[in-house]
Amino acid sequence: MIQRSIPVHFQHRIDFTHGAFDPKNHTLRDLIADACALDGPARVLVLLDSGVAESNPTLAASIPRYFAAHADTVTLMTDPICLSGGEPCKNNWSLVEKIWQAIEYFKICRHSYIIAIGGGAFLDLAGFGAATAHRGIRLIRMPTTTLSQGDGGVGVKNGVNYFGKKNWVGTFSVPFAVVNDLDFIASLPPRACRDGIIEAIKVSLIRDRSFYEYLKANGAALNRLETRPLEMTIRRSAENHVEHIATSGDPFEYGSARPLDFGHWAAHKLEQISNFSVSHGEAVAVGMAVDLLYSVQVGILPRSTAEGILTLMETVGFSLWSEFLNTEERGRPVILAGLEEFREHLGGRLTITLIPAIGEKLEVNEVDESAILRAIDELRQRHHSKVVTIPV
Ligand SMILES: NC(=O)c1ccc[n+]([C@@H]2O[C@H](COP(=O)([O-])OP(=O)(O)OC[C@H]3O[C@@H](n4cnc5c(N)ncnc54)[C@H](O)[C@@H]3O)[C@@H](O)[C@H]2O)c1
Ligand SMILES: [Zn+2]
Repeated sequence: MIQRSIPVHFQHRIDFTHGAFDPKNHTLRDLIADACALDGPARVLVLLDSGVAESNPTLAASIPRYFAAHADTVTLMTDPICLSGGEPCKNNWSLVEKIWQAIEYFKICRHSYIIAIGGGAFLDLAGFGAATAHRGIRLIRMPTTTLSQGDGGVGVKNGVNYFGKKNWVGTFSVPFAVVNDLDFIASLPPRACRDGIIEAIKVSLIRDRSFYEYLKANGAALNRLETRPLEMTIRRSAENHVEHIATSGDPFEYGSARPLDFGHWAAHKLEQISNFSVSHGEAVAVGMAVDLLYSVQVGILPRSTAEGILTLMETVGFSLWSEFLNTEERGRPVILAGLEEFREHLGGRLTITLIPAIGEKLEVNEVDESAILRAIDELRQRHHSKVVTIPV
């Protein structure tokens, strides 16, 4: 047998900026110029989420102007290619082919760059197209939602849906760089804007107590979606997500533990039961509430700690109850099927992350369903006790 280890080193770069396509902003230009000794300007293809283009009407025209101002370093091969975004784009295989066709037509090679601008779904699609053409083209991701800037967009995965299953086809691929232009947050509808805050709370709970204290101190301002605390929240969330990926020892998820998916087993199921009328952030809030009260039920977490976290999630504007938790099939709550589906999704053993204290995590491999149902019952009662009945 021949056995050799193959050492591979990845650089994961996350930059934060405002006005990335203002010609005076050198973030994108410098990233490309600094990375390699250029043999003439680098060829660049820009893929743009049409939802972002519509909400930012001057964006598409500003991109060619930016490249013209930096023609010594970068050549934009064509005007930005606008493709539809949001979850439906991950169900549309013809969009993958469109990306490959553009790569082929404009002779984008392994020394060229693709810049993808959009929400997490669009980045998953564009990232898959880029990673599979010529076995991988350098990708600069520019996430445009709070969720993708603080969570998914700074990760190392891509994928599209296939066989009716989410992310069935995709790769692990460290992007060349991620550029978070915080100006994009301004054009997000409030509901989408709020969604990213919950992933920030999640990551603070599993690894960063001081970030949790920051979120608690700024809960009311975050509820009002004030710019400064929101930007700080996105930064620290991104930092924590990247730190976890870089230091956990399992960036490409060979094991079964997935701490960044705290609260997600119930969240994924809730999104599905609701036919995605419950947003990802809203579902994660309920999912974390279930897991926190479950932890109290089984003696892992003190009740006072759990109550404090539930209050923070409500303060920033999330409901901890969804009527979809009541959905039953043949007398069994449908939400419980989320546990087995989560195990299948991770592969191997069921592994759920819980927290014994703020900033600490604990992996468990067995779950007591009756205690889960008691936790859900507590959330139901908590919700009903808050509904004020107006006497007539
Ligand atoms: N690869 C990963 O590691 C990872 C991790 C978490 C989530 N994800 C994926 O991310 C997706 C969810 O992403 P998302 O929450 O960012 O939303 P999204 O990509 O679904 O976008 C939602 C909508 O907002 C629009 N939009 C995006 N940015 C906008 C802006 N600045 N202004 C106005 N409209 C804008 C989009 O066009 C789309 O219509 C899911 O498909 C999920 O699977 C991937
Ligand atoms: Zn999530």
